[in-house]
Amino acid sequence: MQQLSQTETYSLSGLSAACLAVLVNAWKSDGEPLFASLAISGIAFAFTYACIRWTGHVFIKRGYKGRDMSKKTPVEIPEAIGLICALVYLLAIVNFLPFAFKRDIVEVTSGAGNKVNLLEAQHLETGRFLHRFPLEKLASYGFAYGTLASMTILGILDDSFDMRWRHKFFIPAFAALPMLALYFVDFGVTHVVVPLPLRQYVGELIDLGGFYYLYMAAIAIFCPNCINILAGINGIEVGQSIVIAALIAFNDILYLLPSVQPHPAADSHLFSMYLLLPFIGVSLALLKHNWFPAKVFVGDTYCYFAGMVFAVVGILGHFSKTLLLLFIPQIFNFCYSAPQLFGIVPCPRHRLPRFNARTGLLEPSVTTFSDDKPLRPIVGEALKILHKVKLLRVQQGDSGRVTETTNFTILNLWLVWRGPLREDRLAVEILAMQTAVGLLGLWVRHSCSKLLFTADNRF
Ligand code: UD1
Ligand code: MG
Repeated sequence: MQQLSQTETYSLSGLSAACLAVLVNAWKSDGEPLFASLAISGIAFAFTYACIRWTGHVFIKRGYKGRDMSKKTPVEIPEAIGLICALVYLLAIVNFLPFAFKRDIVEVTSGAGNKVNLLEAQHLETGRFLHRFPLEKLASYGFAYGTLASMTILGILDDSFDMRWRHKFFIPAFAALPMLALYFVDFGVTHVVVPLPLRQYVGELIDLGGFYYLYMAAIAIFCPNCINILAGINGIEVGQSIVIAALIAFNDILYLLPSVQPHPAADSHLFSMYLLLPFIGVSLALLKHNWFPAKVFVGDTYCYFAGMVFAVVGILGHFSKTLLLLFIPQIFNFCYSAPQLFGIVPCPRHRLPRFNARTGLLEPSVTTFSDDKPLRPIVGEALKILHKVKLLRVQQGDSGRVTETTNFTILNLWLVWRGPLREDRLAVEILAMQTAVGLLGLWVRHSCSKLLFTADNRF
């Protein structure tokens, strides 16, 4: 690994110093915790950036290394660097605690008897002042930390033992237990608002009971795994995570604008912002090193950790349905992958696009079927239909039997549609598509909810 260049050292030091100054000022002046969160995220970015450089070679020495399969001369680079992000992130959110709760702790413990403070304590109860973060949020914050720390430990386990897909699929459910336990003892709300057209049959609210916990567990399993399987080209794991985080943060801002205050959901969206800003900070530092041509790999630790950050903010912030709208490309990729994930079509260990060393471009990777391992005829017929509607590319033998199919991932499908592309070009196009689909999802969310639920909860 390279050491930091002089420019990098000066830039990172300057950024850290500026962020520290903001932090000191925020503490002294009892300022807005959002600025403190931004400053801590800046420091987290600088620290992650430097740590990746300083410790990359140690990962290789310890055997955490991977071969970049899409390069002319494949070199081994550090793997599982997402661990640095996760650890710096956990450190960042712990250090942010005093800034988020300082004023409330002071109000609650020493405010009694003082008229002004009593007045402020009333606002504190309603939790509608942006700069206030009610003390009861401390539990959500703590359990979010517990869930993310558990996820990081289990991610390291996966990166260390290279577990089989069918085993590691359920790992996030264990990590989500702290969060689900908090939900059980603290909120316990398991009913959902029924859309207008269905109300005449089931009423305005429907209690899902235990199924609601299954639904939350499913989200906790889905978010990390679907990031892990939309992978295999430089920058795509981190890139998609940054896009999702930015889209959630954008949605949060809609609820935090002064024009819609006081808003009952402001707390939840502030909670989400406080968890997302440092995430964006550490992820940008990782992206710089994982972007084409990658100097490090992120590892499953990062994919699980990132997915769980989204599951935590979606579930504890009470906007899990909106969250799913921001995962549309990942949901598509998951459903599209299902035939291979569930063994209907054989699934190779790696499904990432194939690198053509002659052209330097990526092409769709394929799975081939031989006489020893033939494809069931009915599956073959289904693949031919998908080929006809351009959702796959198959090769057929003389007898008309399918002998080869492109692997079932959105990256390969994009290459089927667009033709061979350079690795970074493919990443940019997928991320641009994801951003456009996410923005569309949010637009639909805020315009159609008026039709389905009588009002958009933003107003
Ligand atoms: C998931 C995918 C697998 C894909 C892999 C790529 C499923 C079920 N699994 O497996 O198809 O091939 O991610 O990450 O869909 N690598 C590169 N370039 C990159 C990123 C990764 O060559 O930009 C290679 C490296 O050799 C690296 C390895 O992929 O060491 C990491 O694979 P890993 O994350 O362990 O694979 P899975 O998550 O199990
Ligand atoms: Mg992976």
